[in-house]
Amino acid sequence: MLVMAAAGQGKFITFEGLDGCGKSTQLEKLAVRLRQRKLDVLSTREPGGTALGDRVRTILLDSRTTGLDAYAELALMFAARAQHVHAVILPAIGAGRVVLCDRFTDSSEAYQGGGRQLGSEPVLALHRFLCNGLQPDLTILMDSDVAGSVARARRRNFAQSEEKAKARGAHGKTKAREQNRTHDEGRFERENQAFFERVHSTYHEIARREPERVVIIDARGSIESVHSEIVQVVETRLGLPAKKP
Ligand code: TYD
Repeated sequence: MLVMAAAGQGKFITFEGLDGCGKSTQLEKLAVRLRQRKLDVLSTREPGGTALGDRVRTILLDSRTTGLDAYAELALMFAARAQHVHAVILPAIGAGRVVLCDRFTDSSEAYQGGGRQLGSEPVLALHRFLCNGLQPDLTILMDSDVAGSVARARRRNFAQSEEKAKARGAHGKTKAREQNRTHDEGRFERENQAFFERVHSTYHEIARREPERVVIIDARGSIESVHSEIVQVVETRLGLPAKKP
C-alpha cells in the first residue's frame, strides 16, 4: 500500500545530499522558519530518530565497525527506518505535523544501492514492504561537489571526536586520546572518491525519475542564500502565503 500524506494531514519533507553538504544546518534553519510561521514541526533524522534507531546509528556510523557486509548494512538502515516510520513519522503526519527528516530511503538508494553497488531494486523492495511505501511530499536534494563535501565532513567528524576525547580527559597525548575515543561517526567518510561519485550520480538518477517530488538546490551558495531558496520551494509546496525570509 502506498501511503502519502493526504490533504488536511501533515506533510513529510526530506533532505538529501552528500556528507558535508550542509543539509543538517539547512534543515534546522527551515524548522525555525516554519515554527515562526506557526506550523507544528517535527525535525528528525536517519539513521536514528528513535531510541532504537540511535543505537543502530552508532553501529552503522562508528568507524570501529569493520567488516560489515553491504546487505547487513542495508538491513540495519531499514531496521532503524521501519521503527522510525511506524513509531514516529506516520503518527506525526497523522496528527497534522510537518515532519522534516534529515535523510530517508533515497539515502539508502544512493549509498547502499549506488555507493555499495547493491542496485536500487532491493532498496525499493524493502521500502515498499517495511515502510508501507511512504513517500515524502517533497525532497530537497542539496547538490554539491563530491570532493569539497567529503573533505568538509571529514574535518567536522575529526573535530567532533577530538573534542569528545578531550572532554574525557586525555589532553595532548595522542595515544591516550585514541584510547579515550568512545565512538565517532566517520565510517562512511572513509570511503573513496569513486564511492561518493556513485552516490552523487544515483541521487541525480532519483531526481530524474521523480522530478515532482525531488527538487535540486545548489548547496554551494552562502548559508543564507541557500536558505532563502529552500524557504521559497517549501512554502510554495505547503501553500503558505509569500513572506520574506
Ligand atoms: P548523516 O548523519 O546525515 O551524515 P552527514 O551529516 O555527514 O551527511 O548520515 C550518516 C551517514 O549515513 C552518511 O554518510 C550517509 C549514511 N547513510 C546511508 O548510507 N544509508 C542510509 O540509508 C542513511 C539514512 C544514511
